[in-house]
Amino acid sequence: MSTSAGKVCILQNSFEPGFIAEGDYIIAGIFPLHYNQEMPDLNCTYKPPPVKCNGFDPRAFRWAQTMRLAVEEVNQNLELLPNYTLGYKIFDSCAYPLTGQRAAMAVLNGMSEDDSPMCSGASPLLAVIGESGSAQSIVVSRILQPFQIPMISYFSSCACFTDRTKYPTFFRVIPNDDYQVKAIAQLLVRFNWTWVGVVRGDHEYGRFAVQGLMRELQGTSVCVAYQEMIPLLYNQQRALEIMQVMRSSLARVVVVFSAEGEMTPFLRDYMKQNITGIQWVASEAWVTASVFTGKEYYPYLGGTVGFGIRKGYISRLSNYLETVNPQRYPNNMLVKELWEALYGCSPSLSSASQLPPCSGQESPLKQHSAYLNTSSPRVAYNVYKAVYAIAHSLHNLLMCQPGSGPFKNQSCAQSDNVLPWQLQYYLQEVKFIIAGEEVNFDLKGDSIPYYDIINWQRGTSGNIEFVNVGLFDGTKPAGEELVIQEDMIMWAGDQSEVPMSVCSASCLPGSRKAVRRGEPVCCFDCVPCDNGKISNQTNAIECTFCPEDFWSNKDRTACISKKVEFLAYDSLGIALTVISVVGACLTIVVLAVFFYHRNTAIVRINNSELSFFILFALTLCFLCSLVFIGEPTFWSCMLRHTVFSITFSLCISCILGKTLVVLAAFTATRPGENIMKWLGPKQQRAIIFSCTLVQVVICGAWLIDANPYPSRNTKYERSKIILECSVGSSLAFWCVLGYIGLQACLCFVLAFLARKLPGNFNEAKFITFSMLIFCAVWLAFIPAYISSPGNYADAVESFAILASSFGLLFCLFAPKCYIILLKPEKNTKQHLMGKEKK
Ligand code: TRP
Repeated sequence: MSTSAGKVCILQNSFEPGFIAEGDYIIAGIFPLHYNQEMPDLNCTYKPPPVKCNGFDPRAFRWAQTMRLAVEEVNQNLELLPNYTLGYKIFDSCAYPLTGQRAAMAVLNGMSEDDSPMCSGASPLLAVIGESGSAQSIVVSRILQPFQIPMISYFSSCACFTDRTKYPTFFRVIPNDDYQVKAIAQLLVRFNWTWVGVVRGDHEYGRFAVQGLMRELQGTSVCVAYQEMIPLLYNQQRALEIMQVMRSSLARVVVVFSAEGEMTPFLRDYMKQNITGIQWVASEAWVTASVFTGKEYYPYLGGTVGFGIRKGYISRLSNYLETVNPQRYPNNMLVKELWEALYGCSPSLSSASQLPPCSGQESPLKQHSAYLNTSSPRVAYNVYKAVYAIAHSLHNLLMCQPGSGPFKNQSCAQSDNVLPWQLQYYLQEVKFIIAGEEVNFDLKGDSIPYYDIINWQRGTSGNIEFVNVGLFDGTKPAGEELVIQEDMIMWAGDQSEVPMSVCSASCLPGSRKAVRRGEPVCCFDCVPCDNGKISNQTNAIECTFCPEDFWSNKDRTACISKKVEFLAYDSLGIALTVISVVGACLTIVVLAVFFYHRNTAIVRINNSELSFFILFALTLCFLCSLVFIGEPTFWSCMLRHTVFSITFSLCISCILGKTLVVLAAFTATRPGENIMKWLGPKQQRAIIFSCTLVQVVICGAWLIDANPYPSRNTKYERSKIILECSVGSSLAFWCVLGYIGLQACLCFVLAFLARKLPGNFNEAKFITFSMLIFCAVWLAFIPAYISSPGNYADAVESFAILASSFGLLFCLFAPKCYIILLKPEKNTKQHLMGKEKK
């Protein structure tokens, strides 16, 4: 716009650079030389004064000096950019986006109207080195974008910059925070800190870092107990609330994404509150902040761990820094402020400060580490790299051979009119080695992810020292990125043991986690595993079932094979064996007695053949209980019920035959004697045979169709395997028993009818009696059998067999033996028929 006054344009506002140097190509640097500012009164009744920056930051001042040093080095270097010089303008952003914006504008505008009398456009600015905080970098990037001026940030790590469409001209020499949050997540997992607090500042950096951390923690064992934000405009009320949360939470570990700006007032209040026992995990923004290295911080911050960005070595830096003093730069306000900050005195008499005056030639002291500690610069090294990246790119650009350039029609950039976007092309491609480290940018403008793990330990003077205790190398394959020398770490509270930060103590093997309703998964109760389930590691989520033939031990930590049980030759088995052998022997003895006395009246009158049969059958009955003892096998299972049922059938058939004979014999004394003819020995045998045959047929059918087989019963008692014989077909089983029962009942009824028949030795009476016992035993057997498990069922059956056999043996044969052996005088036909006295 032209005015009558002759001036073509008027600068709206001026913003002085802190340092300036002329050169053929100008680059700008923006640094947060103050960490705080005072907002001017914006009521617009008068022209607002410029923002007042407070809190001089010697650390950032050092970064700025590093940039100057690097530019000077490049200018002296005969190989890099020969015949050309670099110039710079360095601005202060006051660590605040708004001031950052003003700095960016000033960078573009040039300093005054005189600078550009024609107001011909932007000053010949090639690139910007800056800014520190991501929030400021975002603003600066937005302003530079329309002019396609590339910027290289030395400290803005926010993951948000990966969006190339939003930040097309953005480069950085610091790894993307995505790697840092990954590293922090791995650190938390590594030390089993499953319940952690997260605190952040109110800026893009904090927002994206916390977002990234939450994403990384998903699917891990770590839960976030709370997330708190320190407000942008520090507010003590809010800070105290945050501290209250920290104090009351079980989370001992607190991850902080913040920088000195908000951490300084926050920590001041924190120390006043006298909270201890917090293990800080610091982000790269403050893990190497020398502001907090003072003695007074140690009890509260000692033991802090965090990921620091890569350090480098700049050989000339410390000498260079020593050359900066108020004598050399008498008019530079920043150098004056540096002096005030370092020595607490004012080098110029004109200033209005109340500080005592000093010469400005004071030699730097050791305690000025925030400024002078150049042993392992990290951010300063980034600044250094950034300058060299620009110098190398520019060098490559100027070295372009006409006709083989990268631009349209193989053209090159013109050295007298280099356009920033042309430099951007070369920046994207640049690759060089500095202090042994290769520097280049990927497609998103990011650099190689590498972090040192830094631990805050007490130094000799009581100050905090940053000790390197490991590293995170993002280029390594997953799982190998994190390398920690654990024994070198000093934890919070001077502890050498890893602090605990959990919501619930871990569950020991033998129990599992049970999540509490409505609470995060990291807060849980421990529930012991159920019977038959185990957990063999700590913090098991689930108890696992033991494999089929296994069962849990008492502690539920291991599966042991189940106890196998069957009716073995243990005390019960042996007792049953003894009883059955005794029974069999007794029967054989009786058989022998009968055989020996086979010609006496009592044997003959009682149908000796049938008696022998019965005794033989009884012997078998006794012996068949032996088949029930021992481990069930294919054959023993087949034999068990069949042998038993057939021998019993045989036995009862014989008794039945005998009853019939008795009945017939006595009824035959009445008219119609020929009934005896139908019950001669042959017929008797036929009856016995056919009655037994029925049972044999049933058993045969059973064996063919659904034979009993050995089986493992795990249902009755789940901790044991019971070996038993499955009946195969229960219908057949009950048929077999039912048939015996039927025979026994029939026998009982017939014998009952014959019980009152005359005769001193009335066989029928004894048969009735024996059948009564028999039936009683087997009726009692049924419920006992059904309700007993495997091996006991076998014992019950075996016992029933023995009991009923004994019952039969005693009832039928004891009276006869008594007479044969003890009362031989009664062993006469007359006596037996009850006729002797008549
Ligand atoms: N890496 C941080 C960032 O990208 C570093 C940082 C510098 C910072 N200055 C800050 C973070 C101020 C928060 C506030 O922003």
